Amino acid sequence: MPERQDLAGRHILLGLSGGIASYKSAELVRELSRAGATVQVVMTEAAEHFITPVTMQALSNRPVVTSQWDAREPNNMAHINLTREADAMLIAPASADFIAKLVQGRADDLLSLACLARPIDRCPLLVAPAMNREMWAHPATQRNVRQLVADGATLLGPGAGDQACGEVGDGRMLEAVELCEAMIAFFQPKLLAGRRVLITAGPTFEPIDPVRGITNHSSGKMGFALARAAQEAGAQVTLVAGPVHLPTPRGVARLDVQTARQMQAAVLPLAPQHDVFIATAAVADWRPDTTADHKIKKQGDRRVPTLALTENPDILAAVAALPQRPYCVGFAAESEQLLQHASEKRLRKNIPLIVGNLGPATFGRDDNALLLVDENGHHDIPHADKLTLARALVGEIAGRLGQPHAPA
Ligand code: CTP
Repeated sequence: MPERQDLAGRHILLGLSGGIASYKSAELVRELSRAGATVQVVMTEAAEHFITPVTMQALSNRPVVTSQWDAREPNNMAHINLTREADAMLIAPASADFIAKLVQGRADDLLSLACLARPIDRCPLLVAPAMNREMWAHPATQRNVRQLVADGATLLGPGAGDQACGEVGDGRMLEAVELCEAMIAFFQPKLLAGRRVLITAGPTFEPIDPVRGITNHSSGKMGFALARAAQEAGAQVTLVAGPVHLPTPRGVARLDVQTARQMQAAVLPLAPQHDVFIATAAVADWRPDTTADHKIKKQGDRRVPTLALTENPDILAAVAALPQRPYCVGFAAESEQLLQHASEKRLRKNIPLIVGNLGPATFGRDDNALLLVDENGHHDIPHADKLTLARALVGEIAGRLGQPHAPA
């Protein structure tokens, strides 16, 4: 599967102010380039104390600009030229001092000058703060950040954790991969702005005893891709996940559960507060009647234990039966006769849209193909990686919703 080029055709002006996190900006240039963007780096004098323009030039494949007096620009107006060709400006790292400067609209070096000179409606500003936790928590910084956001900037992070100074807390710059993902999300169309989306993902695990259980091969990848795609599209996303080894997509609220009954207990109270419910979880159909308190030991006489099973609740059908139900989307994992089984399942579960896929061909894989079935008929979303499919499905769902409710 070829790598997606989510930033193809985008030109990013990457500004570095002074901070130890500058080392992450080198990796960030690579991530942005790998995603298809072209990157023009601008550095403040302070940034040059932390990383050299040579490194940034080599990685971005373009000369780095550091001074508003750079005579290489034919018209000597780097701040105008750079910002007219950029699709977005990303300041990473953004120091406390640089943020303060932006808030005041000062322009005494090339980077702050460029921030002020950019056409606000055509060249959005994204800011990734990086500083010591006390500096971040200081009322002056917090006041400045609020003002910066009020002025239209998008804040990326900061993250929390170990800091270069040895302290632990808020103020770390996000990692290069996270910043690149945030940049990709920023450019996605906001088809679900103002919507709330609830998603189940992964398998469930139904314990037999403390060391064994019934589960399946679902990796959760499709549900996690949908959570990311819905979040990128501007939705507030809650993800209820069975036992999987996947990182939570940025900005998504996640609840971990193990069994089908836990999943249902998590989902049912949340469902009425959501506009859309997407059930991607491969819920175990049955669970052992009873769970042994201790490990079931082998019997000396080679007798095999018998497992009595009970049917699990159907979470999707239960949500679809709620009086205040969200728009419900089901998945049908089949091994044959996809259209027929998916159509029947849609009617049986009383849901407007079902997404069919051939289970054995998709479990654990990074790619898939989908068959959408609704009351008007069916159509395919052709074979692609799961995030591409998820974005297409988000578009399909958004197109089927009415106008967003006015906020209460
Ligand atoms: N589902 C659910 N709760 C269950 C079983 C399924 O919420 N106990 C949801 C799945 O998340 C999926 C849809 O129902 O969105 C269909 O799941 P699938 O396993 O394909 O169908 P089943 O209802 O289990 O039917 P069958 O096993 O007969 O194919």
